[in-house]
Amino acid sequence: MDIVNPALNDYLIAHATPADDVLRDLAEETRRALPGHISMQITQDEGAFLTLLVRLTGARTAVEVGTFTGYSSICIARGLPADGQLIACDVSEEWTSIARRYWDRAGLTDRIELRIGPAADTLRAMPPQETIDFAFIDADKVGYPVYYEEIVRRLRPGGLIVLDNVLRSGRVVDPSAQDAADLAIRQINDTVTADPRVESVLLPVRDGVTLVRKR
Ligand SMILES: C[S@@+](CC[C@H](N)C(=O)[O-])C[C@H]1O[C@@H](n2cnc3c(N)ncnc32)[C@H](O)[C@@H]1O
Repeated sequence: MDIVNPALNDYLIAHATPADDVLRDLAEETRRALPGHISMQITQDEGAFLTLLVRLTGARTAVEVGTFTGYSSICIARGLPADGQLIACDVSEEWTSIARRYWDRAGLTDRIELRIGPAADTLRAMPPQETIDFAFIDADKVGYPVYYEEIVRRLRPGGLIVLDNVLRSGRVVDPSAQDAADLAIRQINDTVTADPRVESVLLPVRDGVTLVRKR
């Protein structure tokens, strides 16, 4: 299912802040080196959306779950102040080695700390205090319920969590879609909506993006 009419896709891309050379080259290298995985990378308009959200929330401390080759991490880190920090979580040394090169090129190496390992372990090892201002969740879908819970309890009041792929190309409303990722995404969508700690909205941006603000 197309979430947005495909005829509008190019128009949407053309009317978000343009990608600079760093992001354009990163998208191109990812497409060339990892053609079978390019759909994992967020698009230019979603990247511009992330940068805008980070700036709007005035975030200084951010967490990303699912870094891949670094597109979203660059967009998030660029919205932080110079002394801000993004903790980027992923399991892949190989894919994030590309991210590291582009962080360097973007002048963001000081602002991003990569933590390799299962994100559930990385998040659980973080201090329990409410210190996170902004989080982006875009990793294995079955992990979303755990990632959400570990982050929301560490999110400062007024902080924002962004969850990606919450519509799963429309599978959320297809009763025959019953794999583990489908079940986990339906679970997290219901959990967020009923969670009294937060206010939220699910937007038809790309594959579905939920914005969750802690009260
Ligand atoms: C959809 S991609 C992220 C795309 C990225 N946000 C971007 O804009 O390019 C998902 C990433 O989650 C990572 N991942 C999968 N399982 C994970 C886990 N248990 N813990 C941490 N990262 C995981 C994968 O290695 C992959 O890089």
